[in-house]
Amino acid sequence: MATWPPHATRGGLRRRVYRHSTLFDCTLFDRILLETLCHDAHRASSRGVECIEVEGGASLRGTVHLSGSKNASLPMLCAALLAEGTHVFQRVPRLRDIASTLKLLRHLGCRSEVNAGAQGDVINLTVGDTLGDEAPYELVCEMRASVLVLGPLLTRLGRAKVSLPGGCAIGTRPIDQHLKGLEALGARVELHHGYVECVAPGGRLRGGDVHFDMVTVTGTENLLAAAALAQGRTRLFNAAREPEVVALATMLKAMGARITGEGTSEITIEGVDTLKPAVYEVPPDRIEAGTYMVAAALTGGDLTLENVPLAQLDALTTVLREAGAEVEALGDTRCRVSRSGPLRPVSLTTAPYPAFATDMQAQWMVLMTQAEGESTISERIFENRFMHVPELARLGAQLSVEGDTATVSGPTPLEGAVVTATDLRASACLVLAGLVAGGVTRIRRVYHLDRGYDDLVGKLNGVGARLKRVRE
Ligand code: EPZ
Repeated sequence: MATWPPHATRGGLRRRVYRHSTLFDCTLFDRILLETLCHDAHRASSRGVECIEVEGGASLRGTVHLSGSKNASLPMLCAALLAEGTHVFQRVPRLRDIASTLKLLRHLGCRSEVNAGAQGDVINLTVGDTLGDEAPYELVCEMRASVLVLGPLLTRLGRAKVSLPGGCAIGTRPIDQHLKGLEALGARVELHHGYVECVAPGGRLRGGDVHFDMVTVTGTENLLAAAALAQGRTRLFNAAREPEVVALATMLKAMGARITGEGTSEITIEGVDTLKPAVYEVPPDRIEAGTYMVAAALTGGDLTLENVPLAQLDALTTVLREAGAEVEALGDTRCRVSRSGPLRPVSLTTAPYPAFATDMQAQWMVLMTQAEGESTISERIFENRFMHVPELARLGAQLSVEGDTATVSGPTPLEGAVVTATDLRASACLVLAGLVAGGVTRIRRVYHLDRGYDDLVGKLNGVGARLKRVRE
């Protein structure tokens, strides 16, 4: 019987060993999974789908100016629904997920104007006095974060109908905490035919206490937005402390919301009757920055990074230094990352901010394939965020997975191969692996990368890498 995740079997978890380009101890399910991936990739590529080819061997040297945060931009754009008028967003990254969000907002009746700027795009988003109340499946399935319109629509209109986002490669990703929180604010929540249908009795949510069973970033963001226009006081307990939540709270306060405690696990919101549009600056992307910091350490290079939220990267900086990289702060938003000596193995566990970010787990794994010794990486946020492991094995990495923990043996010389991206951060990890693999690595399903990395090819080639986009 096939089991999911692949390494789990009824009554226990079985060790899975990945060596070189074949899967040892491979079960029928794995073969189906991999054949599906390969067949899917082959089928997709037979349609001339875009790939990225990486020629390995370069050590990265120079300066990279990084972009605004994807995971801050998305809730901020959705929160504009709370106030009629024209909102101005500055330093917005140019990403597929931003385009998907604007497409959904236009479907709801907003107008958007995107202007290129020296520090990222400037987006004028005009929200009308009449809004649609339904986010359809065909738009929500493009991007899970579309669920972030639920809180704003419900609290602004008194009703909202949003398609359930469904799972993705890294896990089932339910939204039960979002719905539980909205019910605590008085919403009537029903599930029909794959949609969440919410109604605020009397047309307005009322403040209340919300206790999240686990830390949820977009759950906290949905409730923050919903509570901003609710009648009375709302308190969020076990709230996410991520910087992207703080960025949303900063935007809401600029609109006139009354919020305290953002960045801590208890946030208090005093509801107001109306909010007004304003001008907002998207903060730097800590995950993009972390990805380039790892790239510098991985290639034994010397990178200066600009527009980096250094204060948000303590967990990564600590383990990079333990692994033998030099990380030098050059001010609040600039740093220099280099490595001249050998890489040391450093084990870690992912956890909510400010601990080591799950969105950096795959990138860290690539680095550890070049470390002199064995390390373990435990993924405690998502139940299936090791989809990059069999792909890294195709490049020659020595990996094994048991339950929620991967063991990496290094240093292992990687050899270029054709690999398939399964999700956003896995695709970034495969690009990093290609930078140090011998020969050429071709990464298929590269649309994942374009969802969350602004001009990755241009930025890496600007500091000595050799990447190119190709159509098969
Ligand atoms: C956000 O996803 C980010 N996405 C993710 O980044 C990030 O990996 C994740 O937070 C964790 O930091 C955006 O901000 C758009 P969660 P989110 O709700 O909010 C479970 C990337 O690569 N859970 O914090 O969807 C959930 O299954 C993306 O940029 C419930 O069970 O994640 C997971 O195991 C990937 N019920 C854990 O909580 C719920 O109602 C944390 O999920 C909500 C969450």
